[in-house]
Amino acid sequence: MSHEFLQEVLAGFSKPQKSLSPKWLYDERGSQLFEDITQTEDYYLTRTEEQIMRTVLGELPAHLGPEPAIAEFGSGAGIKSRRLIKAVEPSVYVMIDVADEFLNASADALRQSFPSVDIHGVLGDFLQEVKLPSAFLDAPSRVGFFPGSTIGNFDKGGAEGFLAGARRDLGEGSRFLLGADLVKDEAVLIAAYDDRQQLTAEFTLNLLRRINRELGASIDVESFRHVALWNGEERRIEIYAEALADQDVVIRDQTFHFAKGERLHVENSHKFTKDSMTRLAGRAGWEVEACWTDPQDWFGVFLLKAQSKI
Ligand code: SAH
Ligand code: TRP
Repeated sequence: MSHEFLQEVLAGFSKPQKSLSPKWLYDERGSQLFEDITQTEDYYLTRTEEQIMRTVLGELPAHLGPEPAIAEFGSGAGIKSRRLIKAVEPSVYVMIDVADEFLNASADALRQSFPSVDIHGVLGDFLQEVKLPSAFLDAPSRVGFFPGSTIGNFDKGGAEGFLAGARRDLGEGSRFLLGADLVKDEAVLIAAYDDRQQLTAEFTLNLLRRINRELGASIDVESFRHVALWNGEERRIEIYAEALADQDVVIRDQTFHFAKGERLHVENSHKFTKDSMTRLAGRAGWEVEACWTDPQDWFGVFLLKAQSKI
């Protein structure tokens, strides 16, 4: 992992627009910070999705039938997994995540709580290919679960590629349950990605601290700040670490210059409408079987059904 991290940091810092994949945000400290962000007043996504999911979980068994096999992409602490398992009683539950310590702990905890469910932890990067266990692939009813609007974190074409890949892997007759954040007032969006407790700021800056910790770099983290911007044309929040002063950053034997105000891009969070999600899913081989939102239409939970090949 650490060699790959080094390679990606060196490559990302060499680009004209410096950037790093958001997956590096989730080391142990980052995963904890993210969990804390989801509990803040400003980050409305988690509680809104949870509120919608209470309705969804009541209706889902009728859509999925008995004993489905479920694969969750980016399962994190497994809090949503727990509720889903209770509601639909799957035969198999696969948790896929890049955060290894987190993954093992979450999978163990679920095994303790649900001894009759066949629980698999798969360490993998869902941006690339993930090898799903045969217990899942051979099950008669296969369902993907992708909550938290992580679908919004792909770059252009990435979300479609991911959903098309899931359609291929999950196969005929499968379903996909997807949580997606919806376009809304800019001030509400910005607050969610620049919370008053500064947890999101610390989440971004932790990426620089991680580079220091794991790659022995000596970035002066205090001379960077977290920036969240709304890009209306692309309908996405963009997150950066911005240099507060001119500086050189030394990583191993390479030096990278940051001019004052220069930004390192760390994440995009795209926002959707019911229509844009329906079109995106359609291009990837899925149709929308059901869609649930909150009263303000802030967040959408979509149940997709595999289009059958004609
Ligand atoms: N599903 C949980 C956690 C969402 S946080 C929830 O909704 O609350 C996103 C999770 O995805 C984190 O646990 C992170 O480690 C994981 N993740 C991020 N990028 C990933 C990638 N490329 N491949 C696999 N897991 C990833
Ligand atoms: N899926 C989350 C989202 O787009 C990830 C996220 C929340 C995030 N806050 C963040 C990623 C801050 C980077 C920085 O809402």
